[in-house]
Order: sequence, then C-alpha cells, then structure tokens
Amino acid sequence: MIKYMQLFHGTAFTSISPKKIKILKDHLFCVNADGIIERIVAPEDSDYQSLLDAYQGKDNFHRLAEGQYFLPGFIDLHVHAPQWAQSGTALDIPLYDWLNTYTFPLESKFSDLRFAGEVYEDVVGTLLANGTTTALYFATVHKEASLLLAEICAKKGQRGLVGKVVMDDPQQNPENYRDKDTVTALADTEEFILAVKELAKSAKQGVYPVVTPRFIPSCTDDALKGLGELAAKYDTYIQSHCSESDWAHGYVRDRFQKNDAFALHDFGLLRDKSVMAHCNFLSDEDAALFADTGTAIAHCPISNAYFANSVIPVAHFHDKGVEIGLGSDISGGFSPSLFDNIRQAVISSRMLEDGVNPSLPSGDRGVPNSRLTIHEAFYLATAGGGESLSLPIGRIQESYAWDVQIIDTKQPSAKLPIFDENEALDDIFQKIMYLARPEHIREVWVQGEKVHSR
Ligand code: GUN
Ligand code: FE
Repeated sequence: MIKYMQLFHGTAFTSISPKKIKILKDHLFCVNADGIIERIVAPEDSDYQSLLDAYQGKDNFHRLAEGQYFLPGFIDLHVHAPQWAQSGTALDIPLYDWLNTYTFPLESKFSDLRFAGEVYEDVVGTLLANGTTTALYFATVHKEASLLLAEICAKKGQRGLVGKVVMDDPQQNPENYRDKDTVTALADTEEFILAVKELAKSAKQGVYPVVTPRFIPSCTDDALKGLGELAAKYDTYIQSHCSESDWAHGYVRDRFQKNDAFALHDFGLLRDKSVMAHCNFLSDEDAALFADTGTAIAHCPISNAYFANSVIPVAHFHDKGVEIGLGSDISGGFSPSLFDNIRQAVISSRMLEDGVNPSLPSGDRGVPNSRLTIHEAFYLATAGGGESLSLPIGRIQESYAWDVQIIDTKQPSAKLPIFDENEALDDIFQKIMYLARPEHIREVWVQGEKVHSR
C-alpha cells in the first residue's frame, strides 16, 4: 500500500480558470519520487480511508493542522535579483533617472562575487519565505555573478530561471557598467547558457538559462539579432522589458518607427518561451503578435504604478489570448511578496474601470473590462505564471509539480480574523489573499522537497 513517496492531507486552493478556483477539501495528495503530484484522492474515493490508514504515523505522511491550507507556490515572472539591495528606495524619480543614478551604479558592484553572493543568498531566501517557488530573474551583466545566482537557486531548491543581462551599446550605458563589446556580450551569454544547462543536471527542481537583452535602449542591433539566434540555437527562455514607460516606449518608436513588440519580433525575440515585463503601451496589434508567438506578459502592478503611472488591461489581453503572469519587478516594485502584487493588481484594476471619477467627463479616463477579482489575481500569480513558462507548475493538480506553500491562519502571533468555525472556504481563501504575510507561510515545498519552514 506504501506506493507513493509522500502523502499530504489537507485542504487546498487552486485555480482552474482565470476566474475560478477549485477547493479540494480534506483531500490526499500523493507525491512521487520526482516531486510530481501522481494522484489526488477525494474523501469519497474508495481507497481514501485505506490510504490514510497505511500512511498515518509514518515520516512521509504530512497532515495539516486545523486552520492550515495548501496554496500553489507563487511564480514571480520578473525579479531583478541584484536590486534587492535597494528595495524600497528611490521610487519617487522617473525610470531613466532611477536607472542611471541608482540602479546601474548598484548593479556594477556585482563584479564582486562576495557582495553578489551575500545579496543573492538573501533575495532567494526571502522570496522562498514569501511563498515564491519559481522566479524569473534578471541578474547583472557579469557572467560569473549571474551563474552564482543560478547556483544559489539550485542549492536552496528554488526553481530559478536566470538571465545574464546584456547591455552592450556604449552610447546608452555607463562606461563602468556594460558589456565590453557586442562580441563579448554574445560570447558571455553563450557560455552562461551552457554553464546553467550543466548545473541543471543536478537540480531536481530545474534551473534554466534565460537570454536577457535588458531592453531595446541598452542593446545594439547586432546584439539583439545575436541574442535571438542564441535563443533559437539553445531553445532557451527570453526575457526583456517591453513598452514600459513613456520614455522607453518613445525611444523605440524613434529608433525603429514601431512598437517594442514588433521590433523585438524582428530580432527573433518573441517566441513561446518569451516573457516580456510591463507592456504598458501594448497595442491590440502588439497583443495579437504576443498571442501568435506565445509570448507572455509579466504584469508588474506595483512597479507600473511608480514608473509608468499605468495599469494594463489584463482582462482585455486575456480575451485576446495572451498569457499573463505576475511580477514583483524588485526593486521597481518594492515588495518581494506576490501577495502584495496580487492585492495591487486588484486595486489598480479597480481604478482603471471606465467612469470611476464622476468629476471627469465620461470616456476621458478608464478602460472597460479591466477590473480584476482577487481570484483572477491569484490565477496570475500561480497558474498564469506556469502557462507563461510552459511548465507544469502553478496548480495543485495531477501531473503538476508539488510546489506549495502551507498557510497557517492560526499562527499564534498573527491569527487571521476567522471567528466562525463553519466559515465558507471561499471566504477564508479571500482573507488569505488579502491578509497573509510571511508569518503565515509555515512551510514552502518545491518539487516535493521542503525548502522553507518557520
Ligand atoms: N528598464 C530597463 N531596466 C530596467 C529595470 O531594471 N527595471 C525596470 N523597471 N525597468 C527597466
Ligand atoms: Fe524590470
């Protein structure tokens, strides 16, 4: 009867569509040696009791206490790992100034592997403690330090997708923080891809190299073209910033007379494994190109409020068939928590609805069909992220990875306000979404391995 590596018992919440969650009350989750959910057994299934009897009291049986729930681990589609060192600072200035006066000087320090290691250990640990089981990272231009970030993900058990950043244009980037030249930028990227692929052989949860032109303004045409070719040659993920702010979007229009989406596509950078951050100025034509190529959007609601004064119409892009997940954009977004980004996604979307401000003439602001529910924002942070990466993650479902966070609503020093023992589970779910903090995340599991507990 002991046929599964591990058996988990409890109530889980998972998305089944953007608008709908499924509540698996008191189910059994059978996880195999590869860390995959092999079977989910409901209380009414015939072997439920016999499975429980067989595993009770064993080391590989994990039963949730009262008030605890399983959620899928979060998938953060856009994190600048080095910028963790400046999170929470300098958000009152525009993107261009922020990059040049704060961000590039900070990132240049990651040539120092000791400093890089200190920050990267901390950011990966912090994201895990916030329930993020998979993260798509920008590192810096430095090949060695970028590899160190992938190694730290592998060691700590987080599923990390990591990019060595390319910024090769000497006209656009500071002298002390850019690739030496285009040839070196491409050679370093190729070496980095090969090194991460090697590392991946010993990381059960997966680590992946990501081709990473920072954004069009930082790269020459030759670099963009070469990166598109490398991504095709090694079938890698691709990430960049797309149509983020007035300035960045306008720069690309001046240089190519087209929007970022079509410019990136010309260089082979929009593929099924592409994830583009922000996309505040995406036209319907751009969105159709995203849908055709399988390119996903990393929606970064906190950062967009600061750098773009903008809210993207998520539901509208979903209707157009575009895959969308959620990104913290540390440190353009100050918070390492996707719970915070879920909340901001909902709040921002409510401010985008048409006709919200009665003192303005109708139609002067607002986008119809932009309002998101908390269930939809949860979808973005979980299932939407998994779809964006084309990986079987982000859902508590058979044949998906056992990537979960265990939420404790009765955490003694921080109880959630649940006073009725028969409260509807969907209401409890909403309270978790709005009120959970890292204190409530008791354990985090990735690919069947416990990677965090408190
Ligand atoms: N555009 C280019 N680089 C960056 C960055 O580091 N953060 C954000 N938010 N936008 C960018
Ligand atoms: Fe960013």
